[in-house]
Amino acid sequence: TDLPRVTYSNTGEDFSAVHAHLDEIITAVESRLLGKSRPALISGRDRHEGPVVEARSPIDRGVVLGEFPQADTSIVDAAVEAARKAFPAWRDMGWERRVALLRAGVDALESSKWDISIACLIEVGKSRLEAVGEVEEAIDLVRHYCDEMERSDGFREEMPGASAAEKCSVVLRPYGVFGVIAPFNFPVALSLGMMSAALVAGNTVVFKPSESAGLTGRLAVEALVAGGLPDGVINLIHGSDQAGKALASHTDVDGIAFTGSNAVGMTIFRHAAASTAMRPVLAEMGGKNPAFVTARADFDTAASGVARSAFGLSGQKCSAASKAYVAREALDPFLEALASATDKLVVGDPRRREVFMGPVIDAAALGRFKAAAEEAANDGSIFRGGTTLAGGIFDRGPYVSPTIVTGLAADHRLNREEIFLPFISILPFDDLDEAIGDANRSAFGLTAGIYTQDQAELDRFLNTIEAGVLYANRASGATTGAWPGFQTFCGWKGSGTSGKGGLGSWYVPQFMREQSRTLF
Ligand code: ALA
Repeated sequence: TDLPRVTYSNTGEDFSAVHAHLDEIITAVESRLLGKSRPALISGRDRHEGPVVEARSPIDRGVVLGEFPQADTSIVDAAVEAARKAFPAWRDMGWERRVALLRAGVDALESSKWDISIACLIEVGKSRLEAVGEVEEAIDLVRHYCDEMERSDGFREEMPGASAAEKCSVVLRPYGVFGVIAPFNFPVALSLGMMSAALVAGNTVVFKPSESAGLTGRLAVEALVAGGLPDGVINLIHGSDQAGKALASHTDVDGIAFTGSNAVGMTIFRHAAASTAMRPVLAEMGGKNPAFVTARADFDTAASGVARSAFGLSGQKCSAASKAYVAREALDPFLEALASATDKLVVGDPRRREVFMGPVIDAAALGRFKAAAEEAANDGSIFRGGTTLAGGIFDRGPYVSPTIVTGLAADHRLNREEIFLPFISILPFDDLDEAIGDANRSAFGLTAGIYTQDQAELDRFLNTIEAGVLYANRASGATTGAWPGFQTFCGWKGSGTSGKGGLGSWYVPQFMREQSRTLF
């Protein structure tokens, strides 16, 4: 309890006490949590129906994470029905009581912090500090959304009446049942973030974690409901895209909150458009996030920020930098600093304290890495990495090296598509405005970063870049590491359909609809 918080901004702080604690508990927690049956949870009851998938850790495919029954349409129906049944009482209890229950849940989550961090680390291959940071982010997020509800007095406002006899107000009301579909890469923070915003607003939830993160998803839900949430307020189902599709297109679901790829997000949007009633789809999707390094940058800061942003969680963050536009005259010193920062990053089994980068998530990601490396070698040149790793633990999972490529044409596929791998392309520029213009030709607009000590350059970046989340001169991550209440997380263009991103002040009302009340 007196251990320091990790968050994501760590760049050399002393976390030896955190590591010592993890050293002490990690083996015992692993054997307590892994290899068990982790069923669906509907109306507070475990449900085992459906074909069971045995999931394995990307760190070491010999490690069985657990068994997960895959939801078929009857389980999806049962979960939606349970959420529907729980909705009126949850709505009618009032936001103050909902906030109290969620705050009790988040206290329970805080007590499970180490268990969930370790589960997350083993299940998706996060480094120790990224895993602990993520659980802290989830805790702060739930509290932040509760704070927003309180600050806004439950989102209601008295209005002047047209006459003295008239009492007018406007209130935001919940929709009903929200389907929450989450990705593997932030299986605690994004899952609990979307869910808690939906819940505090008065909706009930059917939650489908990523099929690569069912254990973490289940543990996170168990913690949150332990605060006393009524049965049926959160219902969890496991499954692949199939189950996600059944949930997203379910006629009795009133809204969808999704985080994941642009392709899947836009499909969900199309499903919603095909239904007869309007319903909100809040989709936080991918990115093709640029970092700009000008001749006026501090190159060590830039190298640290770019390496951490491109290679943290093996590049599998929607916020990861995947291309760096570098002033031509700064190319040599920056690349030298970037190579040295990259060479210092330890790749390996993330259970070990010194490891910065674990494996990629699965064999499909490994296949995509090999294809990208081959393409980059053919069409440009590989400056660092580009290899899959072998020997020891590397033979037991999909491990690859952090990869820096140069010489790819601006319109090369690898400079345009989100590749979600530890892979960054370097693009030299002669004119900052042209570089920003090229970045803006992206279909995405999530995060962007710049390194410069020049105010005019900074202003040009801030005024013209088309992205929702901007950073300047950040050593802990050029484009990554947003934190509840400090940054908001709002994708522009193909990166997000929701106008107001998570982590910030205007997210919760998107889970509500407006009602005008005139009373005599
Ligand atoms: N919160 C995560 C980041 O900003 C997604 O990197």
